Amino acid sequence: MFNESESRRPLRSSLPSTGSAPTHPRLLAWLDEVVALCRPDAIHYCDGSAEEADRLARQLIESGTLIRLNDELVPNSVYARTDPDDVARVEDQTFICSEDERNAGPTNNWMDPAQMKRIMSDLYDGCMVGRTLYVMPFCMGHLDAADPKFGVEVSDSAYVVLSMRIMTRMGREVLETMEETEADFVPCLHSVGMPLEPGQADVPWPCNETKYIVHFTDEKMVWSYGSGYGGNSLLGKKCYALRIASVMARDEGWLAEHMLILKLISPEGRAFHIAAAFPSACGKTNLAMLDPTIEGWRVETLGDDIAWMRFGQDGRLYATNPETGFFGVAPGTSFETNPNAMTAIRKGNSIFTNVAMTPEGDIWWEGMTKDKPETLSDWKGRAWHGKSGPEGGRPEEKAAHPNSRFCTPIEQCTILADEYHDPAGVPIDAIIFGGRRENTVPLVTQSRDWRHGVFMGATCSSESTAAAKGAVGVLRRDPMAMLPFIGYHVADYVQHWIDIGKGAEQSKLPKIFYVNWFRRDEDGRFMWPGFGENSRVLKWIAQRIAGEVDAMETPIGLLPAEGGIDVDGLEISDEDLAGVLGYQEHEWRDEVPRIGRWFDSFGWRLPREMVDELLQLETALGRE
Ligand code: GDP
Ligand code: PGA
Ligand code: MN
Repeated sequence: MFNESESRRPLRSSLPSTGSAPTHPRLLAWLDEVVALCRPDAIHYCDGSAEEADRLARQLIESGTLIRLNDELVPNSVYARTDPDDVARVEDQTFICSEDERNAGPTNNWMDPAQMKRIMSDLYDGCMVGRTLYVMPFCMGHLDAADPKFGVEVSDSAYVVLSMRIMTRMGREVLETMEETEADFVPCLHSVGMPLEPGQADVPWPCNETKYIVHFTDEKMVWSYGSGYGGNSLLGKKCYALRIASVMARDEGWLAEHMLILKLISPEGRAFHIAAAFPSACGKTNLAMLDPTIEGWRVETLGDDIAWMRFGQDGRLYATNPETGFFGVAPGTSFETNPNAMTAIRKGNSIFTNVAMTPEGDIWWEGMTKDKPETLSDWKGRAWHGKSGPEGGRPEEKAAHPNSRFCTPIEQCTILADEYHDPAGVPIDAIIFGGRRENTVPLVTQSRDWRHGVFMGATCSSESTAAAKGAVGVLRRDPMAMLPFIGYHVADYVQHWIDIGKGAEQSKLPKIFYVNWFRRDEDGRFMWPGFGENSRVLKWIAQRIAGEVDAMETPIGLLPAEGGIDVDGLEISDEDLAGVLGYQEHEWRDEVPRIGRWFDSFGWRLPREMVDELLQLETALGRE
């Protein structure tokens, strides 16, 4: 990691330490390097226990990073306000450092791994002075999976420890299993990048203006610097379970995807397992916990963000959720839109970040209740009174940051499916791709076959959201909702999807659908009510799988036939319904060259099959 042997470099063994040190040889060697480089004042080996979490939470409350919430309203929960500049993933500063630049592809930032290590080693040099280094052994997915995926995150942030404990299997049991089975692990190094000189007071949310989120994809290692925000600092999540795992999946013949997993149960009791990929802040958590508005149908949750899918012995594609918690977008979550999330959140044991707080010590965010509470303190800590907005701010400001989050244990979800606990996962019947498009893309389209479905996924586009730093509402292609998460060349990624289908028995492959809950009319109003009403679309998907309902063949795919979508009891005008279900040929004619340009960016690695699909679409649309 570095080649200096200066005397000021501390030895791990000479540091004050708490918890029990590992015996895992590679882990010890790596920790020695990290300690010598980052120079923490102390080291704590995490056991993942509730006592440990309590103690760390108390420390963070004392130091001003966390605020304890009202135990009667949200038990055992805390609230964090980040630095106003550390509120989302930083895609500009996210790198795929493959040995060969060509393997990072056109959609990722790349830098030579050796050069990146030099830059970051300078940043990491002494970055933990005055702080404690926490060692977190974790496992993505079940510990008793056939091939458990281990990681060890080391971080100088106790907020990260508390969050990782909710989001992953973390602590003593994981380490013991790693040691007993002599398992390898993905080293994940994280620092907020703010050392403390002796006597220097800490700030509530330490971070650094300079940020790097770096993936060494050949070596399988993650280095993150400068940010405490979840997507940048909980390295088991997007960094490992998507970026690193997508590379593992390519090499090992499986899929690591940005997908929720749900179980849909029909009134007759037939179960359908569905995985769905939507970009960040486009409805995964909501769909995963959907409360159907149609009689007799039920949804159970398996996961809300990440799905790992492998073929089972029976030739079907099985999905598991490698996480143990929800890291959900708070604004818009309410007992009306997502009662199951609200019930889980209200059970407490959660960390809230950048939401607003009431004088009673309760949480609040835009969309949680119809009326805004009279007084609040907002995500920047400013007081709010009535409708006048924050003191010293503008009335139109939001009390909760649009990317404010709840971090809540998945086991608190009352509709969690039993199969969540099964390391083998669930056989997937349908895969849904989607995005946020104000026009062009209909409410639901079924693909003609796997290859056409891959085309739908590969050409998916979505308006950008507050989940990543940068402008909001800008349209961009987001293949399989994985644009910021593919750990290699996008063309190879699409090829991998094609190959997965080629290698399988066609009848056993999931059916593929494309949805859009976000179509708007001329006034900018959503035409489809969404949320629980999306169960009507799920019902159509289930009926398509069961062969119970017809579809219309169109140039863009299979659309619901007249009356195909159950709208019984739904309040929607005929005009809006036609508007969301249908498609405009002229919009799709405009879409074709845009898709062409998108594919051009893939270079020569663009799979032939995608060119064929685009030609087929263009031909089917014909000329005006
Ligand atoms: P995730 O980041 O993909 O998990 O997205 P979420 O489920 O957290 O939703 C992100 C935002 O989209 C929230 O503000 C939701 O209220 C909103 N949202 C989710 N589903 C729908 C829907 O069906 N219709 C509309 N209009 N908004 C939705
Ligand atoms: P999500 O993203 O919106 O897909 O849940 C989480 C993140 O920003 O890391
Ligand atoms: Mn989510």
